[in-house]
Amino acid sequence: MGGTNRIGCEALRAKVRTAEEAASLIKSGSTVGMSGFTGSGYPKAVPLALAARIEAEHAKGRPFQVRVWTGASTGPELDGALAKAGGIEFRLPYNSDPIAREMINRGEMEYFDMHLSQVAPMAWQGFLGPLDTAVVEISGIRTDGSLIPSSSVGNNKTWLDRASQVILEVNSWQNEALEGMHDIYYGTALPPNRIPIPLIRPDDRIGEPAFRCDPNKIAAIVETDAPDRNLPFKAPDDHARAIAGHLLEFFRHEVAKGRLPRSLLPIQSGVGNIANAVLIGLLDAPFDTMTAYTEVIQDGMLDLLAAGKLRMASATALSLSPEAAATLNAEMPLFRDKMILRPQEISNHPELIRRLGCIAMNGMIEADIYGNVNSTHIMGSRIQNGIGGSGDFARNAYVSIFMAPSTAKNDAISAIVPQASHVDHITQDVQVLVTEQGLADLRGLSPKQRAETIVENCAHPDYRPMLHDYFHRAREHSYGQQSPSILTEALSWHQRFIDTGSMRA
Ligand code: COA
Repeated sequence: MGGTNRIGCEALRAKVRTAEEAASLIKSGSTVGMSGFTGSGYPKAVPLALAARIEAEHAKGRPFQVRVWTGASTGPELDGALAKAGGIEFRLPYNSDPIAREMINRGEMEYFDMHLSQVAPMAWQGFLGPLDTAVVEISGIRTDGSLIPSSSVGNNKTWLDRASQVILEVNSWQNEALEGMHDIYYGTALPPNRIPIPLIRPDDRIGEPAFRCDPNKIAAIVETDAPDRNLPFKAPDDHARAIAGHLLEFFRHEVAKGRLPRSLLPIQSGVGNIANAVLIGLLDAPFDTMTAYTEVIQDGMLDLLAAGKLRMASATALSLSPEAAATLNAEMPLFRDKMILRPQEISNHPELIRRLGCIAMNGMIEADIYGNVNSTHIMGSRIQNGIGGSGDFARNAYVSIFMAPSTAKNDAISAIVPQASHVDHITQDVQVLVTEQGLADLRGLSPKQRAETIVENCAHPDYRPMLHDYFHRAREHSYGQQSPSILTEALSWHQRFIDTGSMRA
């Protein structure tokens, strides 16, 4: 069953339009809230038609740009196409599209990089301005007019509630069995009317399976049949396997010490290949009936669910390689009841992460010897992606872990530096650092003790003597002795890389 058959509400069938007709409803200068979280559940036709319209307007010498809000990163048909057309004036809250990244770093696009849990409440607070149009992919419309979400939930509830007009993309590529997998919570409110969120365990359902939407706001419905586009994961390399090994050893140790139960605590796993390698490693680890309270369900989690090691996973989006998406589609009955997709305000909510005691595992760009972590900026000024949900989880987790290879760019860059060139996660929010060299358990350590542990356990042997040398000279010459530093030298490694192409002295 596909096409208009997915529109169960008779009255709404009359609103079916082409993507071009729908895109013509979006005005230059307006704010558009799009669905999408990683390469999942983003609209695939209207943004392309909008990009074509923008290019046509620009060819006539007429300005045309929009402000784009999403859940997180999206696919090339959205961020890539609109950025290429020069159509994005302002973007929030997360981006991993290479074209948009270049434009941001050239200063041609304004980018507000923010905690993903805060997007919905800040949209409600109103200072981001009005939301003119929501463009939301769904997998179907029920007879009562409620909307069946697709492979990501993200901020869609908020966009549908806040926008003046709504454009829907009904994507018949999305599996019909997604219906019932979602849990859309309608109990959020701003202070002073906020009430506790009644979620006690990762598998609690506290909301509704579909979005509510005022039918009078629906301006157009576009039918699509197009796949999500997530990149395939790389097979774990030696570094990723080593990082996973150190982490699994740490978990075994924590279980033996009685600080973690044998089923661990709800795991949160960040984006990328290293995070996926850790999940693959958990397949053979002695932990059973685990749960996940996380942002995205990626390939490794699907394998853990299939093997029965993971009892269930709660997230805001599926983020599966094409192969894993095909597996899920083929074996939906096996997985369907083990997965819950929620609004990102709930999947990443600090209140819930603290309550559940999540184990947060995220990638980083660099850490300094005191354990401050940079997740976002290369050499302090070039954005890579954004903070995403890492801050939501890191500050509130039971244990907050950051991981990366100890060097980047063929060893020309050390990921452990005297001072981070940008700080997303302060030392108090970073409890464990892991590189392929080893793991530094920083819990309960003072800054100087942290420095010794991080350099010894995590730094690459090529850079370890340089870090020891810096730290010992800092202890002699620093203005203060709580976190010794030589201010004129602390960022010199980054400048040396910019000047010479290497951090090596
Ligand atoms: N200095 C300079 N460049 C560095 C670097 C460093 N210390 N560390 C990594 N890089 C570069 C890599 O060389 C690579 O560059 P390329 O794209 O030109 O090849 C790029 O940064 C990405 O690094 P990679 O090793 O592929 O890492 P990754 O895919 O594991 O991503 C982050 C690492 C930090 C960028 C990623 O985890 C991220 O965006 N985190 C923030 C959001 C987040 O944590 N989300 C999850 C929360 S739920």
